[in-house]
This record gives sequence, C-alpha cells and structure tokens, in this order.
Amino acid sequence: MRYETLINLVIGGVKDEKFKGLINDGIKGDHKLRFLMLARRRSSFLKLWTLRVAFVMLLWTIVVQFKGLGDMVTPSMFKTRSSASSLPPQRIYENNNGYLIVSSNGGLNQMRAGICDMVTIARYLNVTLIVPELDNTSFWNDHSQFKDIFDVDYFINSMRDEVRILKEFPPQQKKVETESIYSMPPISWSNMTYYYDVILPRIKSYGIVHFTKSDARLANNGIPEEVQRLRCRVNYHALRFVPPIEQLAKKIVKILKERGPFLSLHLRYEMDMIAFTGCNEGCNKEEIDQLTKMRYAYPWWKEKEIDSEKKRKDGSCPLTPEETALTLRALDIDRNIQVYIAAGDIYKPEKRMASLREAFPNLVKKETLLEPSELDPFRNHSNQMAALDYYVSIESDIFVPSYKGNMAKLVEGHRRYLGFKKTILLNRKILVKLIDQYKNGTINWNQFSTSVKVAHSDRVGNPSTRSVVPGKPKEEDYFYSNPQECLSPVDGP
Ligand SMILES: *[C@@H]1O[C@H](CO)[C@@H](O)[C@H](O)[C@H]1NC(C)=O
Ligand SMILES: *[C@@H]1O[C@H](CO)[C@@H](O)[C@H](O)[C@H]1NC(C)=O
Ligand SMILES: *[C@@H]1O[C@H](CO)[C@@H](O)[C@H](O)[C@H]1NC(C)=O
Ligand SMILES: *[C@@H]1O[C@H](CO)[C@@H](O)[C@H](O)[C@H]1NC(C)=O
Ligand SMILES: *[C@@H]1O[C@H](CO)[C@@H](O)[C@H](O)[C@H]1NC(C)=O
Repeated sequence: MRYETLINLVIGGVKDEKFKGLINDGIKGDHKLRFLMLARRRSSFLKLWTLRVAFVMLLWTIVVQFKGLGDMVTPSMFKTRSSASSLPPQRIYENNNGYLIVSSNGGLNQMRAGICDMVTIARYLNVTLIVPELDNTSFWNDHSQFKDIFDVDYFINSMRDEVRILKEFPPQQKKVETESIYSMPPISWSNMTYYYDVILPRIKSYGIVHFTKSDARLANNGIPEEVQRLRCRVNYHALRFVPPIEQLAKKIVKILKERGPFLSLHLRYEMDMIAFTGCNEGCNKEEIDQLTKMRYAYPWWKEKEIDSEKKRKDGSCPLTPEETALTLRALDIDRNIQVYIAAGDIYKPEKRMASLREAFPNLVKKETLLEPSELDPFRNHSNQMAALDYYVSIESDIFVPSYKGNMAKLVEGHRRYLGFKKTILLNRKILVKLIDQYKNGTINWNQFSTSVKVAHSDRVGNPSTRSVVPGKPKEEDYFYSNPQECLSPVDGP
C-alpha cells in the first residue's frame, strides 16, 4: 500500500469511531493470525497474514504518532464529554507567576463572558486561577456559586492543557491572610499589553491578586488571534451547565422539537427592565406611576428622569410585546411556529401579551412546558433560570432578542459559532418609526412589511465583520456577539 494512502487512512482515522475500528481490526487480525499458525496452514497464507499484521502495526504506530502530534499542534478545541483518558495533557508550568482570584459581577451572561476573559488572561500570564466567585449581591439576588451553575470539574479538566485552575488555594497558600490580598478592578477594555505590563508585575510582587470585577475587562479588538481563540474555547467548550440544569433544558428542547420548529424570543419586558429603562410605551398612568416609583426606590439605578418617548425613538427601549408581534408578523414568521418566551415574568401579561398570542397562538414558556415541581429547584435562582433559557435559545431554530443585553449578545455569538444559526438582530430605531407610520396610516401593511424585511435582510447573524471604533469600545460590536477569529472567514469558501 502506498504511503499516501496510509496517511489518508490515518488522518481519517483520527475521528474516534474510525480510530477504534482500526484498532479493532488490528486485534482481530492478530487473533486470526494465531489461529492460522496453530492450524499450520500453508506458508503462503502465513506470509499474507504476517504482511497484514505488519501493515496493521505500521498503521498503529503512525496513528499513535499522529494523535500525539495532533495534541501538540492543534488547540484541542473539540474535546467532548467522555472518559478520563480523553483529557488533554496537563500543562506543566515552567514557572507559575502567582495566583489570580476573581469576583465576577453582573448577571449570568455578563459573568460568563468575564470568566472566559479571566481564564484567558490567567493562561497568558502563566498564573494559577482560582475558580471565579459569582456575584451574589447583584439585583438578581441569586446566591448560586460557580459549581451550582457550571460543571466545575469539567471546566478545570478541559482547560488543563492551557491553564491551571484550582477550586481553592492550595493548603500551603491558605495561611495568607485574606485581608492582605491585593485587590483591584482591572481597567475596562484593556488589551494584553496592560495585563503583561501592569498586572503581571503586581502578581509577581504580591503573589496573589484579586480582581474585584470581571466584566468587559478585555478589549474586543487589538487582541492576538490565539488569545481570541482561547476566549472561544472557554466559552463554547469548557463552560457547560451542571447536569440538573442541562438535563431539564434538554427536556424543554425535546418537547419543543417533537412539536415542530421553534423560535426563542428573549422578550425583555419584565417589570424591573421597564422600570429601569423608563420606557413607558403602552402603559397607563397608574402603571407609569408604579414603574417610576420602582426606579426611584433603587439607589444604584442612576438615571431617574427619563423621557420615554425620546428614548424609544432613539431605539433605546426594549420593544413592547405588541411591537414585537407586529415585527415578527411583518417578517413573515410562520404563524404556527412555537414561540418560546425566554424571559422572566412579563409585566402585566394578560393585557400586554394579547396581541402576541393572537399573532402566534403557539406561545410557550418553561412554566407551560414543565410540571411546577420540575422547576422548583431552580425557581428561586434567577441565574439558573436564565441558564435554562440560554440553553433553549442556543438550540432554537430562530432566536430573536427584543433588546440589547448580555444574554442577547452571548446567545447571538454562540449561535454564530454553531454555524451561523439564524438570529434576528432587530433594528429598534427603524422599527419604532415604521410601526408609528403604519399605526397612523402613513404606510399600509404591505409597505410596512416590505420595509421591515429590507431593514433586516442583513441582520440575521450571518458572517460579518466585527466593527471597530477606536477609543469607544462600548460602541463596537462585542467580541462575544461576533467572535470572528473563531468563525469561518467572512469571504472564505
Ligand atoms: C509563560 O510560559 C511560557 C512557557 O510555558 C513562556 O514561553 C512565556 O514567555 C511565559 N509568559 C509569561 C508572561 O510568563
Ligand atoms: C457571597 O459569596 C461569598 C463568597 O462565596 C460568601 O462568602 C458570602 O457569604 C455570600 N453572600 C451571600 C449573601 O450569600
Ligand atoms: C494597548 O493599549 C494601549 C493603551 O490603550 C495602547 O497604547 C496600545 O497601542 C495597545 N496595544 C495594542 C497591541 O493594541
Ligand atoms: C422560594 O422562595 C420563596 C420566598 O423566598 C419561598 O416561599 C419558596 O418556598 C421558595 N421556593 C422553593 C421551591 O424553594
Ligand atoms: C405618523 O407617524 C410618523 C412617525 O412617527 C410621523 O412622522 C408622521 O408625521 C405621522 N403622520 C400622521 C399623519 O400623523
């Protein structure tokens, strides 16, 4: 057999199934050989089998070498859940530069992105990361820790070829008094130069540094490609929800898929969102008073006086359920598709959800698909409930967020990573203008529908270039909504 053919076989064989098949063949061949020898068959047969064994052994050697080589040259991006033997080899630190403690801040998805950044930073600074602490003081008031949401052993093990992560300090480090730990928030949107030049010397001199914040600490752009790819590897491969969350989320997806295609609608119309944004569209006087009171009651919501109408016209308000219904209809979304509401409790649902339900009768949510007892373990943990919605939204046929936000952005990016699954990125500024024109009769339904479709024809989560706005990182496309360095090239094959 020619060398090239062997190589082709070997490369094809790296996929686990074929690989196992090859090994099996080898063993079977060996057995047959012994049987034949015992039977003292004719020597020509013997020669044939000896040749076959030699071939299998050669193949085996090449496969083993290629496997080893593969582990070295390719980032092991596609490690999947399986036996311990498939764990990547542990990274050996020539010198560990110190320890990094991280307090993540924000809601589930903001923390998720922050964790990915922190793992990446720890890896490139050659420091040991202690499993990040989750925010238990935020508005969402969820005391869940990392291990309650993410599979912590899988997280540690699947990254072990890149970075050492520990659940807690090694015993010999424990004597360090906690109050003496050097704490600081890293400067937002920094690039790697900042971490090498400013942070690393501090870790080296203090031994341990505690980052008090993790959100948006690493820039979107101007980051080396291998660093960007590691952010993706953490996000899309190392972070997995704990089995109870994943199993229940899978059950929701299974129920939905059995009934047909489904659209996940991240409908940001919970009371706190409306109060916080001050967007009163469609609310009566009494409701507006209630929402305004809530806004003034929370001291850390800085913006108090809000011009709802102006904010809406700027495209800075979450779409209302009514506006969302009109938009989805205008986009010709199938009336019979299941619409899964990936959100918390909608504000005044009887009144506000009526038009959406009329337009899309197959409106469902976790609470209508599952028994109450199935949700009980998660109900008091908003981050775990959000994790269920995240999982379902990744799996949906279409994802539509009604507002900007970390869940909207992270799901968008994750869906791009999974092969540019359709995500409709609403242009709220154009939409509210068109909706007002349609409602006051300036344009008819067909004009409205056509304009909405035109405005969104290139906003479906297809390959695109992430925008760069020097000096204004908040105005750029977020790295985790378009992790371009980890996707097929925009103009590629
Ligand atoms: C980290 O360790 C690698 C070798 O494993 C070395 O090449 C690199 O320069 C180190 N980086 C830092 C910032 O210490
Ligand atoms: C928040 O988390 C920290 C660290 O895990 C813990 O010490 C603290 O008791 C928690 N607070 C609440 C209110 O759960
Ligand atoms: C990193 O950021 C600093 C400060 O903002 C800037 O001066 C420098 O040019 C940046 N480096 C790279 C490689 O982008
Ligand atoms: C959730 O919390 C509420 C009030 O804090 C409590 O009454 C309820 O029993 C809790 N539910 C579960 C399932 O733990
Ligand atoms: C209809 O609404 C649009 C958008 O708000 C506005 O520009 C226009 O003047 C309105 N036309 C009428 C006839 O009210």
